[in-house]
Amino acid sequence: MAERGRAGVVGLGAMGSGIAEVFARGGWSVVGLEEQPAALDRARQRLATSTARAVERGKLDDAGAQALTARVTYTTDVADLAGCEVVVEAVPEVAALKQAVFARLDAVVGPDALLATNTSSLSVTALAAGTSDPSRVVGVHFFNPAPVQPLVEVIATVLTAPATLQRARDVLEGLGKTTIACTDRAGFVVNALLVPYLNHAASWYERGFATREEIDAAMVGAGLPMGPLALLDLVGHDVTTAVLHRLHEQTGDRRHLPTPLLTSLVEAGLLGRKSGRGFYTYDADGPTDAPGPVPAPAASRAGELPEALLVPYLNDVATMVGDRYATAADVDTGMALGCRMPRPFDQLAALGPAATLARQQQVFAETAEPGHRPARLLEQLAAADDPDLALHALRTADGRVPAGRLG
Ligand SMILES: NC(=O)c1ccc[n+]([C@@H]2O[C@H](COP(=O)([O-])OP(=O)(O)OC[C@H]3O[C@@H](n4cnc5c(N)ncnc54)[C@H](O)[C@@H]3O)[C@@H](O)[C@H]2O)c1
Repeated sequence: MAERGRAGVVGLGAMGSGIAEVFARGGWSVVGLEEQPAALDRARQRLATSTARAVERGKLDDAGAQALTARVTYTTDVADLAGCEVVVEAVPEVAALKQAVFARLDAVVGPDALLATNTSSLSVTALAAGTSDPSRVVGVHFFNPAPVQPLVEVIATVLTAPATLQRARDVLEGLGKTTIACTDRAGFVVNALLVPYLNHAASWYERGFATREEIDAAMVGAGLPMGPLALLDLVGHDVTTAVLHRLHEQTGDRRHLPTPLLTSLVEAGLLGRKSGRGFYTYDADGPTDAPGPVPAPAASRAGELPEALLVPYLNDVATMVGDRYATAADVDTGMALGCRMPRPFDQLAALGPAATLARQQQVFAETAEPGHRPARLLEQLAAADDPDLALHALRTADGRVPAGRLG
């Protein structure tokens, strides 16, 4: 395969080694940078294990695996990244560390190089602002494991040149990834929608509205691949509460504060699967029948599921799209590929905008929570002469919300 380009990857840990593999599979020469030689050995091993797995699964033949491995070089000297057209930073999630990496990269790469960060939660804008040319900086949020997960969220800051965003998307799509674009807000698209929904599910359980089994079964019944409490246990309550705090810091929305039960679980060391206990207790075969941390509900509201959790989530989707933060098509793609959820606009179409709005109005009246205020876009869709047509126009618009065509 002819060389497609030259990419640098800084930090070859869980994410960086996968990102290096993605570029090498796509025919790029890759220069992987670590600080310590010992870390380079670990990275080499990771790449070998991952390509061997790809060969086993029939995704790659032996010759392909060898060629891929040969396309990656390893270094501890940042000057070796000088000739790279694209550099992706994947060092640990510490702002000062990433700033230092960006400052060093800024000094060695050429003026046309694209600089990208794989941060999950730090401000891409702040990182960009510390460089000599912030117009060439974007966020590229890969999912784990990068060689397998198809989605990459591409984050443009207020300083990113439109051509940089397009170039980042073209490069990633050329590597076989599906990209969605958004601006620099906490949680980007996928986590900003998924994590508050999970928090809401935890609070339903905490308030004794339904058992953990009822909540999880109702959401699986609504087409989700996993129940929210089982998913929270899988992700780890420490990770989820950190994302929620970051969201809350930026939005001030009380719904983004971790529900007290999640905080208690973290304090108790019950982080979910990785510590053997969370909402469920796990043994080697999976969840056991051991009781959860909350007693059975006194007055069950399980009959209101799944809409009770689905509708506020769809309202958040409508708010996000109505705010022009991401397009309807990108939100659909993000939730489908990022967490295997049904496409939210399919769910909205199935429930119907008017019924969704009516339910959300009830939630807002009941809670008086400003974050539950029905989205303007939901109101517009519900009021449209033909809500199906309005939804269709929204989903197929290549730009943003076609406000003039809604009711
Ligand atoms: N793990 C995930 O599921 C996931 C998913 C999406 C995004 N992210 C983000 O990706 C980034 C990396 O996460 P990770 O899980 O791969 O971390 P990790 O700890 O597995 O890997 C980080 C690597 O960076 C190296 N490193 C540290 N300082 C360095 C420096 N100054 N120069 C070069 N290399 C250095 C470390 O030796 C290590 O190999 C973080 O910003 C994280 O938020 C992680």
